[in-house]
Amino acid sequence: MAADVERLSTGVEGFDELIQGGIPRGFFVAVVGEPGTGKTVFCIHFIAQGIREGDKNIYVTTEESRESIIRQARMFGFDFEEAIESGRLVIIDALTGARDDPWSLSELDVEALVQKVIEAKKYLGYGRARLVVDSMSAFWLDKPAMARKYSYYVKRVLSRWDFTALLVSQYAVTTSLGFGFGIEHVADGIIRFRKVVHRGELRRFVIVEKMRQTEHSLRMHEIEIVDGVGMRVKAATEMKREDSRLPRSVAVRMLRAELSKLLETPYADEEDEEGLEG
Ligand SMILES: Nc1ncnc2c1ncn2[C@@H]1O[C@H](COP(=O)(O)OP(=O)(O)O)[C@@H](O)[C@H]1O
Ligand SMILES: [Mg+2]
Repeated sequence: MAADVERLSTGVEGFDELIQGGIPRGFFVAVVGEPGTGKTVFCIHFIAQGIREGDKNIYVTTEESRESIIRQARMFGFDFEEAIESGRLVIIDALTGARDDPWSLSELDVEALVQKVIEAKKYLGYGRARLVVDSMSAFWLDKPAMARKYSYYVKRVLSRWDFTALLVSQYAVTTSLGFGFGIEHVADGIIRFRKVVHRGELRRFVIVEKMRQTEHSLRMHEIEIVDGVGMRVKAATEMKREDSRLPRSVAVRMLRAELSKLLETPYADEEDEEGLEG
């Protein structure tokens, strides 16, 4: 029975229903998908909900500055600045890495990340906490072989601090190629975002691929992102398998990179024959 599991609302309209009410407390959930699929927007909702519910909130940003996250949140009506000032939110800026900023990371080092997160948790105080690391894959871009080990380390150390965490992985691939694949191995849940160009229109989807202790939806659901409102989950969609696979151009590039690594020769990255639907 799911009744005795404490669940945290994601704050995304229509999403909690897909996972029996929310993410079980203490879970480390991988949020995966290509750029522009809605991962950061999803994480912002999760933190905004935490602020609303009085949780301690930590957002680590590696791909955007703190200001960029604050601005994005404001577009959906969330006042992150106020939450920072009132001691309910810490945004750790790992992009800018400013030296005079106590909540920044000057290098993308996993141990430094964990120490900084613990420091932020101590600062925010005792109690239920939410953590977002957006993205985790940034920490092993130059050493993809470490992805699994690092993911395990982060989970092992931080699981003592009452976090329910979203760990973002920028490159969601279902092959064993070394691009950021790693969080999925240790994750209690996997939420995958997808994008497809259908009849000349970009459409975005989400699917819950894994959520321990949960009878979750097995369907792909369309999402929309609306100015002033944020992310909303729409109805489940009938999709063909070929609509949802990895774009061919991306797969080809990854295989080439992998091959050239094996042969230890560089390869020329040809003009992209892009096309989102592959
Ligand atoms: N104010 C807004 N109104 C409508 N759509 C927005 C707004 N802000 C962002 N978006 C949408 O969100 C997308 C970015 O999503 P994001 O969560 O940052 O992607 P990623 O998966 O790379 O983290 C943009 O491309 C845009 O489509
Ligand atoms: Mg992002």
